Amino acid sequence: MSLDQPDGRQPDHPVAPQFPARWSPRSFTDQTLTKADVMSLLEAARWAPSASNLQPWRFVWALRGEPEFAAILGCLTGNNPLWAGRAAALIAVASKDRIPGRDGAEQVNRTAGFDTGAAWMSLALQAQAMGLVTHAMGGFGVDDLARVVALPGGHTLQAVVAVGHQGAAEALPETLRPREVPNRRQPLAETSFHGRF
Ligand SMILES: Cc1cc2nc3c(=O)[nH]c(=O)nc-3n(C[C@H](O)[C@H](O)[C@H](O)COP(=O)(O)O)c2cc1C
Repeated sequence: MSLDQPDGRQPDHPVAPQFPARWSPRSFTDQTLTKADVMSLLEAARWAPSASNLQPWRFVWALRGEPEFAAILGCLTGNNPLWAGRAAALIAVASKDRIPGRDGAEQVNRTAGFDTGAAWMSLALQAQAMGLVTHAMGGFGVDDLARVVALPGGHTLQAVVAVGHQGAAEALPETLRPREVPNRRQPLAETSFHGRF
């Protein structure tokens, strides 16, 4: 794993190097992942914090070559199908948004999306520690993916994550090559406030 800061990713304040070093490439090598690799990714996600320890994240994964991989890939939209098919694994991420209330009636778990986001980030940083790259996608047909993964009621699809070994930009379709560079961030002052907005 390289923790060198890619161009344009110099932090303004001291941080552990893995944060600016993580980015979302679109090019993957042909290398495969094993089920054990995927278990390590999911294990990292498992230890994420969640409100009342409800662990509302849900993952449906498939390895390249499996019919379920092709089915998830078939739900992607926009440019995503142009590159995500070369990933070694695709992981659909959902949140379980409803929990049994005290009176037995279902109630909304207000923080399910927040908690599931924490779990995906743990997965992404575990992948980075394993020398892999991840790329989350919100560009998918919601109804199509719900059908493909047999999404239960009361769940929300949040993203599909492509995982694999990073490939060369030249391996991408020509239109995507100029975008295969780490992007930048807004200054902290745009997103963080002392005391109040
Ligand atoms: C929930 C979510 C949805 C995203 N959807 C897409 C997508 O559909 N296609 C894509 O190419 N990138 C997608 N991205 C990647 C973001 O564009 C990327 O994370 C962002 O520009 C920051 O860049 P970095 O991850 O390289 O630091 C998504 C990221 C997240 C977290």
